[in-house]
Amino acid sequence: MLRPHDLSFIKASSLPLAAITAHYGLNHLARLRPRESVLIHAAAGAVGQLAIQLAQKQGATIFVTVSTKKKKELLMNLYGIDKNHFFSGRNLNFTSQVMRITKGQGVDVVLNSLAGEALVEPWRCVTPLGRFIKIGKRDINAFASLPMAPFAKNSSSGFEEAFRYLQTGRHSGNAVVDWTVEDTIKFNKNSTYVIAGGLGGIGRSIARWMAIRGAKYLMLLSRSGAKGPAAEELVEDLKAQGVEIRVPLCDISDKTTLLSVIQEYERTIPQIRGLIHSGMVVKNAMFDHMTRSEFQATLDPKIRGTWNLHDILPKEMDFFVLFYYAAGGAFQDAFSRYCLSEGLPCASLDLGAVSSVGYLAENMDTSKIITLSYTGHEVLDENDPHFPVEYACSPAVQNPESPWDAQLLCAVSTPAQVKKKEHAWMQKPVFRHLYQMDKEHVGRVQEDSTAINYGALIKEAKCLEEAGDVIATALAKRLSRSLSVPGEDLDLNKPAYSFGVDSLVAIEL
Ligand SMILES: NC(=O)c1ccc[n+]([C@@H]2O[C@H](COP(=O)([O-])OP(=O)(O)OC[C@H]3O[C@@H](n4cnc5c(N)ncnc54)[C@H](OP(=O)(O)O)[C@@H]3O)[C@@H](O)[C@H]2O)c1
Repeated sequence: MLRPHDLSFIKASSLPLAAITAHYGLNHLARLRPRESVLIHAAAGAVGQLAIQLAQKQGATIFVTVSTKKKKELLMNLYGIDKNHFFSGRNLNFTSQVMRITKGQGVDVVLNSLAGEALVEPWRCVTPLGRFIKIGKRDINAFASLPMAPFAKNSSSGFEEAFRYLQTGRHSGNAVVDWTVEDTIKFNKNSTYVIAGGLGGIGRSIARWMAIRGAKYLMLLSRSGAKGPAAEELVEDLKAQGVEIRVPLCDISDKTTLLSVIQEYERTIPQIRGLIHSGMVVKNAMFDHMTRSEFQATLDPKIRGTWNLHDILPKEMDFFVLFYYAAGGAFQDAFSRYCLSEGLPCASLDLGAVSSVGYLAENMDTSKIITLSYTGHEVLDENDPHFPVEYACSPAVQNPESPWDAQLLCAVSTPAQVKKKEHAWMQKPVFRHLYQMDKEHVGRVQEDSTAINYGALIKEAKCLEEAGDVIATALAKRLSRSLSVPGEDLDLNKPAYSFGVDSLVAIEL
């Protein structure tokens, strides 16, 4: 990182150690996530202040201990920390205060730099599965210990009962501890959920699925509205189930229209708390023959539409789920990572072909062509996309460990499964990594045992031409391995780029 011009070298020198300690503790070890809570001890110190800044960047709720009123004022002025989130580090009451203010929950992370008795106290206010980060060596050198009581929470999930039951001898067979939790998502009946493209095939299916799971207010956006028997039937069915369903005409790629629709409806419906973006336009043509307007039409709902929804819908959402499709979907994948980096919920679902509902099911002629390009992928049924959508709407995915978790791949076979099918397209260099993934180790061993000493062969060559042949054979072998193309398919009279050799492969060679 560059030193800002207005920061002197002397001041800058005070930062790295404290910043690395705070970063290592909070981000690396504790993996502090948005909306978690953190208790930072000695928060007015260098590590403490940097930890506050990192925690604020994550969107965490911050509690601090400080030793004087002056330090409290400093932190309130500098970082706007809630005056009720300060505790005195000078006495050990803070644990009960933290428990009271968090309604008995405790905090997800403690960054503790206190020693002695103050090592043990904050340990008592860590939530189940929370993280306790200790800075400093005093307690380590003193062989201090932490009580194990918090771990009792982890062992009280039916094991004791199971062993007692086994002890009675009344059982036949074995006893199994069932850890299954109720994992079916329940949508909030007092929130509105928007489905962009909600009158399309998959959108309709998702709307029915959400209604079964408790959604009472649904807004389905599309350019042509509830036209056609399938859309009309959906509206009728959902109304009969008591769902307040709105189907305004709305092109999401037109910001003004989207804004006025949302503003108009917001007056009569509860707050919008979630989005499923299922809008799509397909222009099925080879790229070479596609006009610019056709290309733009396919991108519009995915790129402009996604951005407009992000801009106009409230920021306090429970989920923001995007469906991937080709180039526009590549934008959405990157967009979902951007949202997570901003602390906003977002997931991009890279679905596979859905055969029983949606665009493919309703456009069979085109689907035959498209299905060809899906060869080797698993084809999904109507209910299959509900599973990843359920996951994408759940809080688990809103607090991911890495921005890459925002992109969910569905219906992709494992390399081993794809290889088994031996599709013709697998021969193309672009898919060579699928061959190499599980061969890498074996390949290396085999290569060593059958190694040919090309240096010696070149030395033995009787003329330049013969030496050239040795080099060409060696290169062809390398090329065949790098591209995963059988050696006999390589015509050595052709230039290397004609086999798909790019700059990276060239370096490898
Ligand atoms: N079907 C599949 O096999 C498959 C596979 C992978 C991914 N997906 C993804 O799943 C999603 C749904 O696919 P689907 O098969 O249900 O497609 P679909 O039946 O064609 O539905 C798409 C809907 O999007 C609406 N739409 C298009 N542009 C819009 C815009 N600018 N503003 C508002 N609405 C717009 C269309 O309605 P109007 O024309 O009335 O606007 C249409 O009803 C898509 O996002 C797609 O990327 C589908």
